[in-house]
Amino acid sequence: MTRRGRILGVVVAGFVLAGLGLAVVLGYDSPCEPSEPLPAGATAMKAIVYRCYGPPEVLALEDVAKPSPARDEVLVRIEAAAINPLDWHYMRGQPYFMRLFSGIGKPKVTRLGVDFAGTVEAVGEDVTRFKVGDPVFGGRSGALAQYVTIREARALALKPENITFAEAAAVPVAAITALQAVRDKGAVQPGQKVLVNGASGGVGTFAVQIAKAYGAEVTGVSSTRNVELVRSIGADHMIDYKQQDFTQGAQRYDVIIDNVGNHPLLALRHVLEPEGVVVMVGGTGGGQWIGPLLRPIGAAVLSPFVSQQFTGLLAELNPEDLRELAELLAAGQVKVVIDRRYPLPEVPAAITYLEEGRARGKVVIDLE
Ligand SMILES: NC(=O)c1ccc[n+]([C@@H]2O[C@H](COP(=O)([O-])OP(=O)(O)OC[C@H]3O[C@@H](n4cnc5c(N)ncnc54)[C@H](OP(=O)(O)O)[C@@H]3O)[C@@H](O)[C@H]2O)c1
Repeated sequence: MTRRGRILGVVVAGFVLAGLGLAVVLGYDSPCEPSEPLPAGATAMKAIVYRCYGPPEVLALEDVAKPSPARDEVLVRIEAAAINPLDWHYMRGQPYFMRLFSGIGKPKVTRLGVDFAGTVEAVGEDVTRFKVGDPVFGGRSGALAQYVTIREARALALKPENITFAEAAAVPVAAITALQAVRDKGAVQPGQKVLVNGASGGVGTFAVQIAKAYGAEVTGVSSTRNVELVRSIGADHMIDYKQQDFTQGAQRYDVIIDNVGNHPLLALRHVLEPEGVVVMVGGTGGGQWIGPLLRPIGAAVLSPFVSQQFTGLLAELNPEDLRELAELLAAGQVKVVIDRRYPLPEVPAAITYLEEGRARGKVVIDLE
């Protein structure tokens, strides 16, 4: 072997060893640590806590310190929360690459949940947009708890009067994802044909209604048992995936919002208009390691060779979008579909249900 060949071999072996080392480190689960005592003088509140990655059994209902609002923060007494697939991704620390951010071996942040709705109990001295007693909804990590503090400029908005706290709690992550998929990534225009794959889930039930509110002709894809549900929230056409593969149909779509990721990108291209867009919202094709990253990688490879656009989405919570959703909800253009409700101590059962991937709309957690 030449000297250059030997050097190349050493470099390749180095990369392989580094990759294997990273895989071992990222895949390692530290044992669960015991709960910590409350700091002296703290007021207790109940919250869902996890100190190690794993199945829903790692979740515990514990006493933690009730937070106090900083100058620019609002303290919200939570009436209802909701769960999303991201909660079980954090709980399991999967796909493993996310542990680079969420914590290697064990979670850096031990609290779970994002979506909440409740009543403002206290405000910091610089807060001007909210006052004590306001009904609000929003997104903040650690929302599976009795209280949460959030900066007033972050993802917080007044709850529309015509919806309940449970309905408002179901909105933030799923509806903002749907809004950003329809409005920003899909750039849906009146009269366009939009297909929503996974139309009966948390994101899908909002995406169908938001696409309708933006003037689209909407086709929903669901299993037989959910066809009527999705039709009832406004889908113009339904495809029952148990009977028909929509990628084999003759209809072409301007925008496909793909919450499932169960068809190859080239198959989606068969049913796209030449300038059509696929918004890749969900999918677990990359397995435990890279999960939802696999499709955007495939899309990046495919995109230079096709006229259609394949675009990923990482939804961002913000107050402007919450306010747009509040208007759609207040006008009755979007309704919240709630599947099941669980009390806070039963969050492990709620997550177990959501992980099965069969939720019809949203799963809500009721606080007492
Ligand atoms: N990119 C982002 O920023 C972002 C944000 C939020 C969520 N997500 C991802 O988006 C995906 C959807 O989230 P979600 O909250 O809607 O989840 P979800 O509520 O758990 O979705 C469950 C729904 O998916 C449907 N479904 C399962 N397999 C299907 C198939 N082969 N064809 C059509 N529908 C199918 C189920 O209906 P059936 O029982 O009838 O099959 C069920 O109604 C998840 O992968 C989530 O991680 C991404």
